[in-house]
Amino acid sequence: MRRWGRGRRSACPPVRARANLAGTGFPDTAVWAYDGRIPGPELRFRQGDTARIAFANGLPEATTIHWHGLRVPNAMDGVPGPSQPPVPAGGRFDYEFPLKDAGTFWYHPHVNSGVQVAHGLTGAFIVEEREPIRVDRDLLWLLGDWRLTREAELAGGFGHPMDATHAGRIGNTVTINGAVRDRVPVRAGERVRLRLINAANARVFALDFQGHAPRVIALDGQPVTPHAPADGKVVLGPGQRADLVIDMAGRPGEGFDVVDGFYPRMAYRLTRLTYSAEAPLRDSPLDAPIALAANPLPEPDLAGAVRQDVVLDGGMHGAMPKNAGPRGPFWALNGVAAMNHQSMGHHLDPLITVKRGQTQVTAFVNETGWWHPMHLHGFPFRVLSRNGRPAEHREWRDTVLLGPRETAEIAFVAEEAGDWMLHCHVLEHQETGMMAVLRVT
Ligand code: C2O
Ligand code: CU
Repeated sequence: MRRWGRGRRSACPPVRARANLAGTGFPDTAVWAYDGRIPGPELRFRQGDTARIAFANGLPEATTIHWHGLRVPNAMDGVPGPSQPPVPAGGRFDYEFPLKDAGTFWYHPHVNSGVQVAHGLTGAFIVEEREPIRVDRDLLWLLGDWRLTREAELAGGFGHPMDATHAGRIGNTVTINGAVRDRVPVRAGERVRLRLINAANARVFALDFQGHAPRVIALDGQPVTPHAPADGKVVLGPGQRADLVIDMAGRPGEGFDVVDGFYPRMAYRLTRLTYSAEAPLRDSPLDAPIALAANPLPEPDLAGAVRQDVVLDGGMHGAMPKNAGPRGPFWALNGVAAMNHQSMGHHLDPLITVKRGQTQVTAFVNETGWWHPMHLHGFPFRVLSRNGRPAEHREWRDTVLLGPRETAEIAFVAEEAGDWMLHCHVLEHQETGMMAVLRVT
């Protein structure tokens, strides 16, 4: 990775590599990696900078990079077809875009995503605020989920209908920044900003920070009124992020588990916060504000909005699309099943067309028995309501997680022309029908 000058420049060729994911005693796993690292390099910029990323493809197949959650010009969005041709093996592409928003974002391929993301092609993209809040440490946990064999090799069977018609490719090994971590050292009294990124293909997390009272300060990179997570659990669907402030309230020498209990009867310890023997950094929690300044997002004009809803259908025990074959499609949006193994958008007719500058209100209506994190490229949206009730925080998001039979109503301003992807971020759902194009003219 190289950087120079203002508007620093980075190169991140993806290459075949090996990494020790599963921990001591396990062999390394053959992976695909940006700059040979799992996860890829943490790209860090300042709000107002221009990001320049010189990209060279060292993989055996075509790829692109999508900058998840960042408001970038359509041509820099990394969707093969609408934005750019796929970068062939051995090819190059220069990404360049201004950074309008501060926050926690991430990057991943948008070609053959189910396979490429599962091989490790993910990385954090952090844009620092002009006026950051005061914390003692800024920590990042990029959460990965791997399906490994006993020999710690990646299990095959990508795109298997058993995964695609159910909850997606859920793995058996969860990593924090590319490794199973039994413990994370902390110091009593310190205030940590913890940036969480769910970079898994399909796994949903519900994190319980036992013995601690985290406060959520941003969701999907966008500031939110600081609040305690509902039921004390931080829920993250694939693609989603949360920024937390945690005052490390234990005593020197103590330890506390962080438990993921999303799937009933399958709760496990993600890691353990272990307090060093050092004297506490301070006796009472730091007395400093934790609210972040809002990003300059265009506020939806609800009075002048057009309404276009999106019904999610299909999946096991659901209404399978009429054109379903043995390999799909298994899912549909408004009855349209876009079959596509490449996560591409070029042959898709728009499902929704909207005029530039228009505010759109969309209800996602999940008529399936499965969870779906619905992601819209280009335009962060406000969550207006859930299941008919006004949303408590009216938070900005780029991915909204819907439980079985749930509804979520969102609003956004279609501020940039172009074809923008709208899809489920369970990558096996995306690639078997749960994907569409929103056209802004
Ligand atoms: Cu994070 Cu269309 O993707
Ligand atoms: Cu889905």
